[in-house]
Amino acid sequence: MNAWSQTTLDHRTVLVTGAAGYIGSHTVTELLRQGCRVVALDNYCNSSPEVYRRIEGLAGTTFAHVEADVRDGAALEKVLSNHDIDACIHFAALKSVSDSIIHPLRYLDNNVRGLLVLLRVLQRYHVHRFVFSSSATVYGDPVRVPVAESAVLNATSVYGATKLMGEDILRRLAAAPAELEETWRVAALRYFNPVGAHPSGQIGEEPLGIPNNLMPYVMQVAAGLRPKLSIFGGDYPTPDGTCVRDYIHIQDLVEGHLAALKHLLDGGASLTVNLGTGRGTSVRQLVETFVQVNGVTVPYEFAARRPGDVAQYFADPSRARELLGWQARHDLADMCRDAWRWQCSQPQNHA
Ligand code: NAD
Ligand code: UD1
Repeated sequence: MNAWSQTTLDHRTVLVTGAAGYIGSHTVTELLRQGCRVVALDNYCNSSPEVYRRIEGLAGTTFAHVEADVRDGAALEKVLSNHDIDACIHFAALKSVSDSIIHPLRYLDNNVRGLLVLLRVLQRYHVHRFVFSSSATVYGDPVRVPVAESAVLNATSVYGATKLMGEDILRRLAAAPAELEETWRVAALRYFNPVGAHPSGQIGEEPLGIPNNLMPYVMQVAAGLRPKLSIFGGDYPTPDGTCVRDYIHIQDLVEGHLAALKHLLDGGASLTVNLGTGRGTSVRQLVETFVQVNGVTVPYEFAARRPGDVAQYFADPSRARELLGWQARHDLADMCRDAWRWQCSQPQNHA
C-alpha cells in the first residue's frame, strides 16, 4: 500500500470501466472495502454482471453499475451527469494478442477510440484523474532484464500498439498547459503477468473458451477439464529452457492501483510505472509450484514454440516503490494456492 499517501478513499467516487472483468472485479471489491463509492461500467463483451453480486457479498455493500460501451458518448454523459466522479480507472479493453492480429480494426476501435471518447466526456465533466491499464507488452522483446520503464518501447502486436497509443495520448494530455487548474494527472500502469484470485475463492479469472494464458490452462488441466498442458518451447536460452515471466498476484496488482489512485487524488504528478514483482519464473517452475502447493497432478508435454513469445522478461519494480511506496507482497505459492481455491469453488470449473 502507498506508505506515503495520507489520502483515504472514503467518500470518493470512482468510475471503473471494465469493472466486471478479471482485474476490474478485484479492484472494485477493494475500493468498496476501503469506503470508496464505485460506479461500475461494462458492456459485458468478456464478462457477466453476475460477478457484481459476489463483489457486493465480499465487500458488504452495494454499488452503482451501468451496462454501457465506452465508445458510447451519450451513455457516458448520462453516467457523468448522474454521479459526482472524482477519478476514473480505465480497464475496459480487448486483450487477446492473437485476436488483435486477426482483427486489428476491432482492437483499434475498441481500445483507442474507446479511450478517446471516454477522455472527452471526462474532460467535459472536469474529471482529470485517470488510471490507465497498460501492459508489459509495450516493451516487446526487451534487450535486458529486469525491464525498467526507460527501456525501448516496441509493441509487436496490434494489442500492444493500442496500449502504446493509449499511453502516448495520455502523455500528451498530461503535458498540455493547465486551463483553469484542470491539469490531467495520469497513472499508466504496466502490468506484467497478473494471476491468482481473491483469497476468498469467490471471484477470479473466467476465460471464455480455451484459455490462451498459462495459469488458467494449468488450472483447467489440474481440474480434469483438459488432458494435458502443452509447454510452448523447451529450448529457450533460459535456465530450464522454458520461458520466464514475472507473475504477479492479482491482489498485489489491485493494491498498485489503489496506491496510484491515492497518489493522483493527493495531487501527485503523472507517472508511468511497472507493476511486477521483479522475480522471473519459468513455465516449469510455475507448473511445479502449482503441483506442489495444491497436491494435484498437471500432466504436460513439450510443444513447438508459440509464435511471438519472448524468451524472458521480468520487471524492475523500483520506480513504483519509489513513487508510490508500493511493492508486491505475495509469492508464487500464494498465486497458485489462490488460483486453485477459485477453480475449486466453481462447480462448472471441474470435470
Ligand atoms: P477482462 O477482459 O477480464 O476485462 C475487461 C473488461 O472490459 C471486460 O469485462 C469487458 O467486458 C470490458 N470491455 C471491453 N471492451 C469494452 C467496451 N468497449 N466498453 C465497455 N466495456 C468493455 O480483462 P482484464 O484481464 O481484467 O484486463 C483489464 C485491463 O488490463 C485491460 O485493459 C487489459 O488490456 C489490461 N491488461 C491485462 C493483463 C492481463 O494479463 N489480464 C495484462 C496487461 C494489461
Ligand atoms: C500474454 C500476452 C501479453 C498479455 C499477457 C497477459 C502474448 C504474446 N502476450 O503474455 O500481451 O499481457 O498474456 O497475462 O500472448 N504457455 C505455455 N502453454 C500454454 C500457455 C502459455 O507453455 O498453454 C507459456 C507461454 O509460451 C509463455 C508463458 O507460458 O512462455 C506465459 O504465457 P501467457 O500466460 O500467455 O503470458 P504471456 O505470453 O507472457
